[in-house]
Amino acid sequence: MSFTPPYPDRPTGRLPLRELLRRFRANQLAVWTPGHFAADFFTTRIFLRDLVVCNSPETVQAAFVQNPAALERKSPQMRHALEPLIGDGLFISDGLVWKERRRLVQAVTHVSRLDALTPVMTEVAAERQMAWRARQGETLDVLAEMAQLAAEIICRTLFGRALGAEAATEVTEAFSRYQAMVGQTDLPSLLGLPNWWPRLGRRRLRAQVRRIHAVVDRLIDGALAGAEADSLIGAMGRARLPGGGTLPREALRNEAATLFMAGHETTANTLAWAWYLLSQDPASAARLRAEARAVLQGRAAGHDDLAALPFTRAVVEETLRLYPPVPLLGREAQADFTLAGHPVRKGALVLVAPWLLHRHRKYWSEPDSFVPARFLPDAPPPPRHAFIPFSLGPRVCTGAAFGLAEVMICLATLAQEFTAVLPPGAEVQPLCRLTLRPGETLMMRLDAAP
Ligand code: HEM
Repeated sequence: MSFTPPYPDRPTGRLPLRELLRRFRANQLAVWTPGHFAADFFTTRIFLRDLVVCNSPETVQAAFVQNPAALERKSPQMRHALEPLIGDGLFISDGLVWKERRRLVQAVTHVSRLDALTPVMTEVAAERQMAWRARQGETLDVLAEMAQLAAEIICRTLFGRALGAEAATEVTEAFSRYQAMVGQTDLPSLLGLPNWWPRLGRRRLRAQVRRIHAVVDRLIDGALAGAEADSLIGAMGRARLPGGGTLPREALRNEAATLFMAGHETTANTLAWAWYLLSQDPASAARLRAEARAVLQGRAAGHDDLAALPFTRAVVEETLRLYPPVPLLGREAQADFTLAGHPVRKGALVLVAPWLLHRHRKYWSEPDSFVPARFLPDAPPPPRHAFIPFSLGPRVCTGAAFGLAEVMICLATLAQEFTAVLPPGAEVQPLCRLTLRPGETLMMRLDAAP
């Protein structure tokens, strides 16, 4: 019998608007009914805004792969949440700015550069392996541990390998404070109210942003001073734009903040979920451990080990299916247009929801259960466009190969030696504000693996 990990209650009927908004603000995953996990396409209206949900391979392809120009722009919720921090950074830009930045960022994070990017992951995983040896028997916040691990990896990748753990902690803490401030859903945007509508807490937010920018600027100075020839920021700072110039300083800061934000919480949440899922499925945990021990024999994993870790990869992919770190992908329609035969009006919020697609009744067997073997190389491939943790189409995650390698390297290195045990009676519930995580903390006891 497979193990079915937790998911938020699914309301059985249509919710009144007030209740819908209350639930959505508390947890964006708590509003979907059983019917939504079986539908191919549906539309609804929330106050002034049309909501269009694409939930089949055909409609997902029409929205994100054929990518009508009308759907280039990210949702107003996402833009309002991130714009103060990342300005015109790749994650929320569109049009010409997006095109120019995408070329630059893709070049430095591309899968073809993995062998140059993975040594930092191996180094940080080995450091954590050492640190954990001294902490066996302790109860740790596994979510915070994984956030720190991922932050160190992205910080050293961005700003250079000489960067100390304190700098990574400083950036991470500043970003978490920001996230906590914007974590509440931007209600005015969801309801379709205009951009000038007052949004609470903007002044405090701007003060926080000034502090983050000061830290990031200092790190960029270090990376550009040349001491850190291997940093992504160094590489992006030196890259030539089509006109012959280099990226202006503010744009470089926006892309540094974008990469930090996009590349640390996503991998941290995936790792935390993987520890939780393995703790509830001893057979999968033993199989992953046996694979990692056979390949690594105690050392930290590196780029050349990835191909020899198919079960580790399957566990990571099954984790991404059940708990996609970005579970709702939103766009704002810029004009009236037709999507796979359905009319969509200007201003509509168009959603592709990995949360629904990854558990869709039509496309998956045992959709809510943890079955890593479905992702082994000899299993049938996942249904087309129904497994999209990194999105798809022109705006697909530029860090997909980076993120997958990072999660595999950290998990295999640590799981060959340690297990994380959930204390009896502890409850874990998925919580989604900007990203999907196993609650605010994930307290588990760290033990030596049998
Ligand atoms: C498990 C890890 C990760 C997951 C699940 C993930 C997921 C995603 C998703 C779903 C999007 C698209 C969002 C949308 O369409 O609205 C995205 C975009 C992006 N991701 Fe990732 N990501 C991960 C790791 C990373 C890493 C490690 C980096 C950087 C090194 C990164 C950099 C980016 C960037 C720059 C974008 C914006 C791309 C664009 O708009 O053109 N991500 N990611």
